[in-house]
Amino acid sequence: MAQTTQTKEELAETKETGLIPIFIMGQKYEVPPSLTIQKALEYAGYQLIRGCGCRGGICGACATVYRKPGSYRLEVGLSCQTVVEPYMYITQIPFFPANKATYDINLLEPTGETVASLYPEIFKCIGCNTCTRSCPMDIDVLEYISQAIRGNIRRAAEESFDCVMCGLCAARCPSELAQYLTAILCRRLYAKYQLAKAEHLEKQVKALEAGKFEADLRALMQTKEEQLKTLYKEREVEPAMADETWEPKDKSHL
Ligand code: SF4
Ligand code: SF4
Ligand code: FES
Repeated sequence: MAQTTQTKEELAETKETGLIPIFIMGQKYEVPPSLTIQKALEYAGYQLIRGCGCRGGICGACATVYRKPGSYRLEVGLSCQTVVEPYMYITQIPFFPANKATYDINLLEPTGETVASLYPEIFKCIGCNTCTRSCPMDIDVLEYISQAIRGNIRRAAEESFDCVMCGLCAARCPSELAQYLTAILCRRLYAKYQLAKAEHLEKQVKALEAGKFEADLRALMQTKEEQLKTLYKEREVEPAMADETWEPKDKSHL
């Protein structure tokens, strides 16, 4: 039977070393208790090439499954955001092989029929809500799937807005849905066909295509690394609490 609590000797050792025991793919390691699972993996000697991206809870690359001692619950989370606990049993899912429809967004109609034809499996949803309970972003996954089933693309897009595509909902779904791929289809349809166009974005894309920034980009590519670092540090950054009237002092790139 797996060990779930520390023995007296181990507790004394933890006090002395400040390290806690965890299991990574069945192997026991001692790691500092303040680390995230991702940092603990590296502390234990793993080199993260897959299953690791932004390290900030945004990219969804670090989906992790774990169980805590004494608990029947299989828990999930992002390894860059979840802190280790003693005797956690941990494994990572670097990639979840979900069924991904391919389409040209320019040829689609923003209707429920489109969503149903590309992802007909959404109608197999049994409403168990396991997806919602598995989501590390606290998204009501069942709700956005229900909206997609009803053909309400706007609501499906809005409800799924914070999705980081980690795949944990799909990993636990008894009906084998790829919820996050349905969600991104809805967000694409909503953004392309239903939301008002961002005029400034269109203007900027046209300027890019016309080569407005070519010379600047070439100059940057020829700049020495130290100078690049200085330019980066000194760049004008929009303040975190800026309101919508904020504008940069240098408007030459707008
Ligand atoms: S886990 Fe699957 S079947 Fe259950 S509610 Fe979510 S989408 Fe539906
Ligand atoms: S909806 Fe699914 S893929 Fe998106 S963040 Fe939640 S669990 Fe991950
Ligand atoms: S590494 Fe990007 S969300 Fe964890």
